[in-house]
Amino acid sequence: MMYRTIALTSLLLASPALADDVPLKPGPGVETVEANCAACHTTNYIRMNAPFLSPDTWKAEVTKMRVAFGSPIDDDVAKEIVAYLVAQYGAKP
Ligand code: HEC
Repeated sequence: MMYRTIALTSLLLASPALADDVPLKPGPGVETVEANCAACHTTNYIRMNAPFLSPDTWKAEVTKMRVAFGSPIDDDVAKEIVAYLVAQYGAKP
């Protein structure tokens, strides 16, 4: 089990498209997102999913990170994060 995790991690790191940690777009709340959303995975996850996520889906995504994956984010902070994600990475209607 342990070995499989390590093998998978090196596979991800070896893949140039995934290894490049492109900085998030500047905007209000960007520091909050960087502080709260980069603990478990890189912020590339945000960029890679951006084209598909409507405001409601971004909200659900942040809720999932908090509830399902247990990231310790307060309601106020979550609101700021969602506002940033929708403004910078929301799917255009
Ligand atoms: C406590 C750990 C943790 C934190 C903190 C965290 N995430 Fe995640 N995130 C995960 C896990 C686990 C996955 C699923 C991993 C996978 O599929 O490889 C994930 C996946 C994602 C995905 C990919 C889509 C999906 O649903 O699988 C996005 C987008 C995402 N996270 C955004 C965020 C944002 C935005 C924040 C900050 C609010 C955040 N994450 C904070 C653990 C976390």
